[in-house]
Amino acid sequence: TALVVAIDGPSGSGKSSVSKAVARALGLAYLDTGAMYRAATWWCREQGVPLDDAAAVAAVVRAMPLVMGVDPEAPGVHVDGTDVGAAIRRTEISSIVSAVATNLEVRAELGRLQRAAIDAERAGGFSHGRGIVAEGRDITTVVAPDADVRVLLTASEEARLARRALEVHGAADAAAVEATRDQVVRRDADDSAVVQFHVAADGVATVDSSALDFDETVRAVLDVVVQ
Ligand code: C5P
Repeated sequence: TALVVAIDGPSGSGKSSVSKAVARALGLAYLDTGAMYRAATWWCREQGVPLDDAAAVAAVVRAMPLVMGVDPEAPGVHVDGTDVGAAIRRTEISSIVSAVATNLEVRAELGRLQRAAIDAERAGGFSHGRGIVAEGRDITTVVAPDADVRVLLTASEEARLARRALEVHGAADAAAVEATRDQVVRRDADDSAVVQFHVAADGVATVDSSALDFDETVRAVLDVVVQ
């Protein structure tokens, strides 16, 4: 039977790269649910919808022609035929994505798509029924509380800021860390209004990566999988 692994965590916890590596190691598909909220945000801007018009945003997201790739080697994101993989990572999107992600109708719609993608892998999809690693903020709790393995990947605020600074600015000096603070701390605070990803829910294993390097973190998650 197929294996479903759910991984949640705050921004800068290393969730995406760790989840991708875990999927690769186990030969599973990979679903980046954050990319779906980012793509929805990109699409709303493209369509000229004011983000504070909740009903209009929900309608536009429901009609969004989104195609999510689930190959961990190349998880493409396409909206209406456009490859948005790079565009959705830009600061213009990161700084406003919470406004879309806190729209409950959007969450219901994207949650439905996420469950469908997970069920497709359970039934034998990309990796022929071996399963999927799905990663985000509410996968262990709302989208796939029935996953075989559920992990909350955490790290201290200091570690998360340093990682994001290195990623975005290529340095983790004081200035780079400050420039990153809004992206990490403010966004997590905004997201926390509708999703809880700071404390592990019942039955969810916590992996704290503050003192671990990348390979050690991947191994720690794989250890939870084989337990
Ligand atoms: O993980 P990433 O930083 O790409 O997520 C982008 C945004 O998508 C988050 O800040 C959050 O607003 C939203 N998100 C969410 N629920 C998820 C995954 C992401 O609300 N499961």
